[in-house]
Amino acid sequence: MSLVTIDRRNGLAYVTIDNPPVNSLGRSVRKNLLLACTSLAADKEVAAVVVSGKGRNFVAGADIGELGQTPSEPFLPDVLSAIENAPMPWVAAISGVALGGGLELAMACHGRVADRGARLGLPEVNLGVIPGAGGTVRLPRLVPMADAVSMITGGKPIAATHALDIGLLDRIAQADLIRCATALAQELAQKGPPVPTITRPCHSSDKIDWEAVEKQMKQKSRGAVAPLEALSSLHTAAQAPASEALSAERARFLRLTTSEQAAALRYVFFAERAAGKSLRSHDTPPVDLRQVGVIGGGTMGAGIATALVLAGSQVRLVERDAPVAEAGRARVAQTIADSVKRGVLAQGAAKAAIARLSTGSDYAALADCALVIEAVFEDMAVKRQVFSRLDAVMPAEAVLATNTSYLDVDALAETTRDPARILGLHFFSPAHVMKLLEVVRGRETGARALATGAALARLLGKVPVVAGVCDGFIGNRIMAAYRRDCEFMLEEGALPQQIDAAMQDYGFAMGIFAVQDLSGLDIAWAQRKAQAPSRDPSARYARIADQLCEAGRLGRKTGQGWYDYASGAAKSDPAVEAIIQAEQARAGRKLRSFSAEDIMARILGRMQAEGAALLQEGISESAADIDVVMVTGYGFPRHKGGPMYLAAKSSSEGKDA
Ligand code: COA
Repeated sequence: MSLVTIDRRNGLAYVTIDNPPVNSLGRSVRKNLLLACTSLAADKEVAAVVVSGKGRNFVAGADIGELGQTPSEPFLPDVLSAIENAPMPWVAAISGVALGGGLELAMACHGRVADRGARLGLPEVNLGVIPGAGGTVRLPRLVPMADAVSMITGGKPIAATHALDIGLLDRIAQADLIRCATALAQELAQKGPPVPTITRPCHSSDKIDWEAVEKQMKQKSRGAVAPLEALSSLHTAAQAPASEALSAERARFLRLTTSEQAAALRYVFFAERAAGKSLRSHDTPPVDLRQVGVIGGGTMGAGIATALVLAGSQVRLVERDAPVAEAGRARVAQTIADSVKRGVLAQGAAKAAIARLSTGSDYAALADCALVIEAVFEDMAVKRQVFSRLDAVMPAEAVLATNTSYLDVDALAETTRDPARILGLHFFSPAHVMKLLEVVRGRETGARALATGAALARLLGKVPVVAGVCDGFIGNRIMAAYRRDCEFMLEEGALPQQIDAAMQDYGFAMGIFAVQDLSGLDIAWAQRKAQAPSRDPSARYARIADQLCEAGRLGRKTGQGWYDYASGAAKSDPAVEAIIQAEQARAGRKLRSFSAEDIMARILGRMQAEGAALLQEGISESAADIDVVMVTGYGFPRHKGGPMYLAAKSSSEGKDA
C-alpha cells in the first residue's frame, strides 16, 4: 500500500495521505510526504498542490504509538518547512478531523478549505505534550492570539464554521471538497509565489494578561503541566522571531514526550480505546438503537433519555402515570435548553432532539423498542416489578437493561423468562455528559445484549467498561473501599478537610468527603444498613458517617454534611470535629498526624488492593479497565494514569532498581 499518492491532473497535483485508520503521521508517511514534496517542487508542470486524507479524516496527528520513542527522521517540522517553502501553493482539503500534526500540516499549507462537518484542533495537551511542529508559532499568525491560547491550552477541537470565523480556514466547501480546494489552489497559483505562513506577523497579544491566564490555568489544570508549557510556548511565539520560537517549541515538545505525565496520558488514550472491545461479537450484531425505551423520568432516566435523543434515537419514556411522565419530559427539555443557553447546542438541533422524545405511562408503547433501559428507584423490589412487567410486553428479541449502581443484576435477570437478554448499564450523572458507562455482564447475559451495550456506548460517545456482578461493580466498589479507609484515617487522627486537600493537591477535582456531600450521604447509609446483618462483627467499622446521617447531616441538600454550607461554600465544622473526636476516643486507636503523602499513599494502596481483588474475582477484565473507570468516572487525575498503572509502574521500577 502506498501511504502517499500523487495524481497529476490539469496542471495540478493531488496528494493523498492513506494511512488507515486515521491517517496518522508515522515515520513512513512523513518520509513519503517529503518525497512527494521534493518531487513536486521540481515539477514545472505543477502549478499548485491539493493535499487531502483518504477515508473519513484528513489527518489525526502524530502516530501516538511513536510519541514516547526516540524521534526518527524525517522530522515533521522539516517536512512542513519543505511544504511551506514549496515554489507552488499547497492547499489542505480537510474532511473529518485535522488534529495535532494534521492541523500543523494544514497550517504549513498556503490555503485551507474544509467540509462543513470538519473539526480542527491541537489536542496535544491531552497527551501531555504541546504541538511540536510549529503549531504554537503558526496558529497565532493565522488567528487572534486569544483563540490560539484557547485552542492550544484547552486542547478542544473547534468546528469548521468557527475556524472560518477566526481565520483558520479560507473556505468551507458547500458541495465537493476537492473541487473547492482545486478552485482555491488555482486562484493562489495565479497570485505568484506563495507566502509562507511563518513569515506573516504574529497577531497582537497586547490584550492578553499572560500572568493572569497562567494563574487561572494553574488552578484548572490540577497538576497537569502541558497546558502551562503550551502557554509559555505561545508567549515565546508572541515575543520572539519565528525561527527562535520554532526551535524553543520543538525543544519543549521533545522534553515533554519523555515525561511521566505524557507516558501516563498515552496509556489512558489507548486504554480507553481498548475498553469494551470484548463486548463486540463478530457473529452477533447489536439490536437496532434507533428506537429505545427508558423507564423512569427521574434524574438518571431523564439524563439517559437526553443522551439518546441528542444522539439521534427516538425515545419512549415511560413513568408510572401521565403527570410524572410529563415531569420527566420537562427534565429532558430543561437539560437541552440549558445546553442551548451554554452555547454547546444549536437551537435547531435542540428542537429536533426534543421532537424525538415521547412520554407516557403505558408499557405496551415500548413493544417496538429493541432496547429498554430501566432507571427507576434503586430498590430491588421496585426494579423486579418493572422487569416482570417488561418481560410480559417486550418481544423475545428485545434487550432489557437495568441502570443500577450496585444492585445484583443476576437476581433481577431471574425475574425474566430469558436472562440472556438482560444486562446492567451503570450510567453516571449527568448521563448526557459523563463519558463512563459500566456495562455489567450478568452470569447469563448473552452476546447480543453485550454487543448492544457496546453499540450504545459508541452511539452516545461513551467509554464502555465491562464489569461482572458484585456490590458496586468496579468504580463504586473501589470508591466504597477507599472511603472506608478515609474514615479509618479520621479515627486515627486525620480530619476530612485534610484528606480532601491532599486529594485535591494530588489532582482530584474534589476530595472524597466533599464528593459525598455533593451526592448525598443517605444512599451509602441505606446500603450500610442493608449490609449490617451480614457484616462480619469482627471487621473494623467506622461509625462517623452513620452518626452524621443520624444527626440529619445528609450533605449539601440538607445544608450540612461533612462540611457546613450555611455560607454557600464548604466550611469545616466544629460539630463534625466533635463527632470525630468522640469516635476517636471510642475506637481507642493511637492518634497520629498525617501528611498529604501519608494520606495519598493510604488511598492509592486501598484502590490498588481493591483493584487487585476485582481482577482476581474476574469482576474486571483488565487493570487498564480499572484505570479507565477511575479516570473517566471517579475524578482520578488523568495525567497520573490511574491506580493500577501506578502500581505496575512502581513494581517495575522496584524490579529495575
Ligand atoms: N495515532 C495512532 N493511533 C491513533 C491515533 C493517532 N494519532 N488516533 C487514533 N488512533 C487509533 C485508535 O487507537 C484506534 O485504534 P484501534 O481501532 O486499534 O483501537 C483507531 O485509531 C480509531 O480511533 P478511535 O478514537 O476509536 O476512532 P474515532 O473515530 O472515535 O475517533 C479520532 C477518531 C481521530 C477523532 C480520535 O481517535 C482522536 O482524537 N485521536 C487522537 C488525535 C490526537 O490526539 N492527535 C494528536 C497527536 S499528538
